[in-house]
Amino acid sequence: MAPFSVRPAGQADGAFLGDMVVEAVNWRPGAARPKHQVLSAPEHSRYVSGWKRPSDTGFVALDASGEPIGAAWYRLLPRSDPGFGYVGTRVPELIIGVRPIWRAHGVGRTLLQALTQQGRADGYARLSLSVERGNFAVSLYRSEGFAVTQSGIGRDTMVKRLQ
Ligand SMILES: CC(C)(COP(=O)(O)OP(=O)(O)OC[C@H]1O[C@@H](n2cnc3c(N)ncnc32)[C@H](O)[C@@H]1OP(=O)(O)O)[C@@H](O)C(=O)NCCC(=O)NCCS
Repeated sequence: MAPFSVRPAGQADGAFLGDMVVEAVNWRPGAARPKHQVLSAPEHSRYVSGWKRPSDTGFVALDASGEPIGAAWYRLLPRSDPGFGYVGTRVPELIIGVRPIWRAHGVGRTLLQALTQQGRADGYARLSLSVERGNFAVSLYRSEGFAVTQSGIGRDTMVKRLQ
């Protein structure tokens, strides 16, 4: 397996996290919604706008030369402006994306594990996420302990208990 490392996401990673939001939106093979279109839509930009807020937590994966190749992070969103996977005010919502050429190399699972461990250490009882039906990422989430708690139109909310 090609070597990669993981470090906590910092203030300067906001632009890369924006790129990973674009990857997450364009998860379907052949999908190519332009970056400016994705990031100008509030339902997507809410996951990164104003990064990094005090309660934002994330991890970035790096290749051997230190280039970012993937990221997973969570953010608390208010009831008045919820994300797709909103469950409650004290339940952060998780977002994850890996650069296409780095997929299926264990980067996503490593990032998920780092983030859930951090969430537990931060005292959160649960983490949530939203995934569109048909995305293989569902099986990754299931294998990491997430379960579907709500089904919407074309997408499911999944929750992992941490405590
Ligand atoms: C979903 C995503 C974050 C997973 O990251 P990744 O680095 O590719 O995942 P991993 O390599 O850690 O693989 C996790 C599991 O998924 C499986 N997997 C990886 N790619 C797969 C594919 N294309 N189809 C089916 N299963 C796949 C792996 O086999 C692995 O299972 P295993 O450990 O039992 O072998 C990444 O593929 C991605 O960015 N996808 C596009 C964006 C997206 O869908 N984001 C999530 C939106 S909810």
